[in-house]
Amino acid sequence: MVRYIVTSALPYVQGIIHLGNLIGSILPADIYYKYLRMCGEDAIFICGSDEHGAAIELKAIKEKTTPEALAEGNHQQIKKLLEQYECTFTIYGRTHTEQNKGVVYEIFESLYRNGNITKVESELPYCNTDKRFISDRFIEGKCPVCGYVQARGDQCDSCGNLLEPKELIDPYCTICGKKDITFKKTTNLALDLVKLQPKIKEFIEASSTNGWSKNAVHHSLGYIKRGLRPREITRDLKYGFPVPLDGFKDKLFYVWFDAPIAYIGITKEWDAKKADDYWKGKDTRLVQFMGKDNIEPHTLIWPGILIGSNLGYILPRTIYAYEYLNWEGEKFSKSRGVGLDIREAIEILPADYWRFALASMLPQSADTDFTLESLKQAIDNDMNNVIGNFINRTLTLIKSNFEGSVPKGKLISEIGTQIEEKTAKYQVNFERIDIREALRSVVELAGVGNTLMSSTEPWKLAKSADPADREKMTDILYSCINIVYKLGILLHPFTPSASAEILKTFKSEAKMEFVDRILESGMKLDIEKVAPLFHKLTEEEINKIEQHSGKRVSR
Ligand code: MF3
Ligand code: ZN
Repeated sequence: MVRYIVTSALPYVQGIIHLGNLIGSILPADIYYKYLRMCGEDAIFICGSDEHGAAIELKAIKEKTTPEALAEGNHQQIKKLLEQYECTFTIYGRTHTEQNKGVVYEIFESLYRNGNITKVESELPYCNTDKRFISDRFIEGKCPVCGYVQARGDQCDSCGNLLEPKELIDPYCTICGKKDITFKKTTNLALDLVKLQPKIKEFIEASSTNGWSKNAVHHSLGYIKRGLRPREITRDLKYGFPVPLDGFKDKLFYVWFDAPIAYIGITKEWDAKKADDYWKGKDTRLVQFMGKDNIEPHTLIWPGILIGSNLGYILPRTIYAYEYLNWEGEKFSKSRGVGLDIREAIEILPADYWRFALASMLPQSADTDFTLESLKQAIDNDMNNVIGNFINRTLTLIKSNFEGSVPKGKLISEIGTQIEEKTAKYQVNFERIDIREALRSVVELAGVGNTLMSSTEPWKLAKSADPADREKMTDILYSCINIVYKLGILLHPFTPSASAEILKTFKSEAKMEFVDRILESGMKLDIEKVAPLFHKLTEEEINKIEQHSGKRVSR
């Protein structure tokens, strides 16, 4: 039987994530997972904290704490926040666990035995004060190209040129601020992507037709064409898993090695036995969501790890990468006060609102700008006017004219056809992982109801003495309430709270098999009091959001 593992890229744990991270992988993964479950599929949703890496070590040093303590506090907080956004993970785990360490070692040893590990020598900056190698990002100096004084070892932020740490003029260590740096030779273990390339290529060609995003296919094939190079999997860091090989025991595995493996490790953290059933099941479909900066690690390195270790773990079936969401034309940046993090956002608007708005802005084919205009379009117009008001009007009319029961009418055939069309479109869009369009189909379905209402004005027919008018009104409202029921189901992946609220009226649940159900005439509905489902953005909410726009912030 087909089963699914849905994953979202594991967010780094050193800071509270912003809306860009949420939209860039966790939210679409959660929406897709909810859809699968609603279809009755056997699926698990795996995500968690990415705890290792140079960045968290540096942050811990700066905050005079340990990476462990930093990770622990943030992990719990992020997990709680994501639950407030109604993300329903099977488990939100973490990378620094015994379970993950076990899988990392199992895979590494197998890669080594199979001859897929090679050695790479490099010259790295070493800080004599801190007595440690410092990663490219944590050495700074004068840019040899434009002269900017705070260029990083990997890139100059001023002219944009890619750099090597050795090219920096007058380099200093950003940990201690001193200039006592020497370049030392060091040898790291690497995944032999040169040897694995033919099989990786085969994998990409065979599976990229299974709904991969265009950017994922395009970039991966580009890398392959240019030829892969061995990829280092060890580092001279302090927090992580030690390398269990003589000669390398003072090194750690590189974060990009143990993090993707943690998709398996986290599944084991949830349930060791089930983890094997899913990860080694022939019929399991692994569907992975991420931002576009994660393409290469997922389409080349991660499959290389899986193929090279040959332990029977399945390969990804679908890799879907999103472009970036920018904030009013600028990159999200915590330090410059541009954009909201997920804690700030949930204090302003409830989860449904963000889920709906972000899903309708999903950057599927190009970087997309988050603007107040697009937020208003999504919330005020689509969510409140088109969907919310239609539902509200229908329930109000049914309450006053039919004593809160499903009218004894028939489905207007033209409306029946349109309902079928929109629900079919919804399903096709989900199958293609075109989540933004799937949401569009829901808005369009509500639009069908709105058009029916405004073109026939059933509230006027209700006042007529002519029985023919009365019959017409009955059919109209019967058609409308059927639309409302379907909206309740189809909204579930996007706005789970509103969906539950709507479905309560029908004492029903969000199951895709119910979407073909036509409501029984005369069925008593649970509409004690009709209250608006949503509200438009208030002045106060807008002000709070605007405070986070880069342009306004002069701090
Ligand atoms: N932490 C990484 C990032 O935020 C993503 C890791 S995804 C995994 O870019 F595959 F490595 F887990
Ligand atoms: Zn230093």
